[in-house]
Amino acid sequence: METFIHALPKVELHLHIEGSLEPELLFTLAERNQIPLPYADVESLRAAYQFTNLQSFLDIYYQGANVLIREQDFYDLTWAYLQKCHQQNVVHTEIFFDPQTHTDRGIPFADVIGGISRALADGESKLGITSALILSFLRHLSEEAAFATLEQALPYRDLFVGIGLDSSEKGNPPEKFSRVFARVRELGFKVVAHAGEEGPAEYIWTALNDLQVARIDHGVRCVDDPALVEHLRQTRVPLTVCPLSNTKLCVFSEMSEHNIGKLLDQGLCVTVNSDDPAYFGGYMEENYLAIQSALDLTKPQLAQLARNGIEASFMTEQRKQALMAQVDSLL
Ligand code: ADE
Ligand code: ZN
Repeated sequence: METFIHALPKVELHLHIEGSLEPELLFTLAERNQIPLPYADVESLRAAYQFTNLQSFLDIYYQGANVLIREQDFYDLTWAYLQKCHQQNVVHTEIFFDPQTHTDRGIPFADVIGGISRALADGESKLGITSALILSFLRHLSEEAAFATLEQALPYRDLFVGIGLDSSEKGNPPEKFSRVFARVRELGFKVVAHAGEEGPAEYIWTALNDLQVARIDHGVRCVDDPALVEHLRQTRVPLTVCPLSNTKLCVFSEMSEHNIGKLLDQGLCVTVNSDDPAYFGGYMEENYLAIQSALDLTKPQLAQLARNGIEASFMTEQRKQALMAQVDSLL
């Protein structure tokens, strides 16, 4: 199974680049930028990665991002993630970045997007990994702040393909951002949103109907509403599911309780992703391996998950067809 999972040409659609900051690089950047850390060493930092819910994780994730200061830091962060992709046969990745996490600390938007994009270009030319960038608004902040971020981003609009919505879900429903996403759609960007991770199935409906998203990030709470499951089955609006994230954040008590296998068998376009791999204990292969062993998934089921990732991506039809053929050749 390990060999099969490795051989699958994998597509990642839900990855926060700030969540790929490994403790070792975090310490290196803290030293380089002279940022004091409340942890003695890498081991004690890693030991603090015990989460009870989404907010307990976000508090540590935003603290970790404070070591990212210069354009080169964003390059190094992204390049380290792309090397992981290369090792794990991830052939295409669509990456979130949270500009407000950085611009609110006085880091220029140009340095954030510049460093990430420069690494992505090298990823394509040196490693053959294609990619797209998705700017994500922080939903615990105001819609006005999201509008300001959009304005700041527009001079760089050729560097990102879509806009998403992340951070603290409960109490910050998608409709809080209806107006800004109407503008985002007018501008021609793809729209995605985190919904139904911890929040209710209702948030998935409003992400679909109010924000008119192309994909739902997480979406696992859809099972609380049978009509929504049927809608997702019929429309094949993709869910970018993150199994290790869901168990680390106690969305499911253990992996054997995860619903990705059931949703797959019901015909939904569910995909496998790593979310914040440095914090949740694994990249794409570890996520595939974890669900395979806990849910006893077969090779055809794993291949269908890989196909769903290809289908759900923003790649060209031509590249999608080529990758689908590669998956089929493995069965
Ligand atoms: N930001 C980074 N990871 C996230 C997650 N899993 N949910 C919401 N916001 C996030
Ligand atoms: Zn996420």
